[in-house]
Amino acid sequence: MEPFRFHLFVCTQQKPEGVPSCPSRGSLAVLDALDREIQGRGLNSDVQLTTCGCMGLCDEGPMMVVYPEAVWYRRVQPSDVSEIVNSHLRDGKPVGRLLWNDAAAMKATAVEHGAKFRAAMAVRDKAGVLPDHLDQMIRGYMPSRCLLTALELDIFSAVGEGANAQQVGTKIHANARAVGMLLNALVALGLLSKSGDDYKNTPESARFFVQSSKDNHRNGLLHTANIWHRWSTLTDAICRGTRIPIDRDNTPEWTQHFIAGMQRNAKDRAPLVVKAVGTAGVRRILDLGGGSGAYSIAFAKASLQVQCEILDLPEVVPLTADYVNRAGLSAQVRLRAGDMLRDDFGSGYDIIMLNAICHMFSEEQNQDLFRRAHRSLAPHGRLIVQDFILNPDKTGPQHAALFSLNMLVGTDAGASYSEVEYTRWMKAAGFSEVCRIDLRGPSDLIVGRVKRE
Ligand SMILES: C[S@@+](CC[C@H](N)C(=O)[O-])C[C@H]1O[C@@H](n2cnc3c(N)ncnc32)[C@H](O)[C@@H]1O
Ligand code: FES
Repeated sequence: MEPFRFHLFVCTQQKPEGVPSCPSRGSLAVLDALDREIQGRGLNSDVQLTTCGCMGLCDEGPMMVVYPEAVWYRRVQPSDVSEIVNSHLRDGKPVGRLLWNDAAAMKATAVEHGAKFRAAMAVRDKAGVLPDHLDQMIRGYMPSRCLLTALELDIFSAVGEGANAQQVGTKIHANARAVGMLLNALVALGLLSKSGDDYKNTPESARFFVQSSKDNHRNGLLHTANIWHRWSTLTDAICRGTRIPIDRDNTPEWTQHFIAGMQRNAKDRAPLVVKAVGTAGVRRILDLGGGSGAYSIAFAKASLQVQCEILDLPEVVPLTADYVNRAGLSAQVRLRAGDMLRDDFGSGYDIIMLNAICHMFSEEQNQDLFRRAHRSLAPHGRLIVQDFILNPDKTGPQHAALFSLNMLVGTDAGASYSEVEYTRWMKAAGFSEVCRIDLRGPSDLIVGRVKRE
């Protein structure tokens, strides 16, 4: 049985630099072109496009197979894609010049490739060579650091419609020789293209990293660039058991990038939370550490009956006010400057939200927050915690386990916590019904309900 009329497999097997592979011959561009062509022609429900691993025919790549006929194409280039879609997928005629249908030769090539590969691996293993995946993990900070520096220096805006290293260096007041080295590395990483001495943004870089683009993420990503400096203290933080303060933390600029970074995530997640929690019967919401106000804004937009109150630190509230005013919701979303660890919350709330908050605090601080939230909720009110939730043994999901270290280097006593811990704290605080709601993406909800007449 075939659920689709055609099923396309494109090989995207990554191999070490210098080893022949489909990606090194352009299979990722082929995949992208196929995806665009299929979407553009509205063929999504007829054609399934899938990436696959090595087929043993790397020297002839990029390789692609079309089922149900099991037609094998070799040396496919993006410029071949519209012909494949027109001739094969639309008219049912495979593209002869790209076909490879000599089964005996293909099998011999694949078998020979497999034998050579296993022999090469055995030699490396015997010699004690560090496996590629470990080597890549160890050097993984290099591409990340290049991109973060490019964002810090606003390189992509400086490249604009096209510029050479000298012109970019002049614009950003940096050394032209060093700028040239960074630009070349960004080309190697696929974030710029180069022709002669001139560099250009790729469509993705132009869209997401150039200041004037409507989808520019640079401001929010500068928070990740700031956090990089904290991660450099990880070794010392592990030895000391808590964060090592660094000078550049918590300046006004740092706080602005932090809240922009929070808003970048929260604006996508807020509609999911509103959908999962609902607004029926909800009149008053307390949003503890509301940051950019994205969650309160989403609830206020979803129901005119809802009044939200955001409690955040005094240095953050003016930033929150800008986001709320820009959304035109200052009548429905009120702001309070204070400290959630000390201030009285008030009473009678239908919902108290802790979005991306609990990981900043210790177990004891969270238990205290939960107890005080329980007292401040109306009968049948709900406490909503959204966070990266660890498995019971705390070794995954990977994002949550790594984020726990992000809190080690950034807070006095924060960490990622497990569902078991959140549930225990909520029950101890008096919540009688506690459940987990899985959201799409890296964070989920733990919801506790008050039962009080
Ligand atoms: C990780 S951000 C989450 C922001 C927002 N809830 C979201 O998900 O986008 C943490 C927020 O808590 C605020 N915050 C940290 N400590 C606080 C405290 N003691 N009292 C009030 N707000 C605090 C920060 O200023 C920041 O806005
Ligand atoms: S890498 Fe694609 S066939 Fe080997």
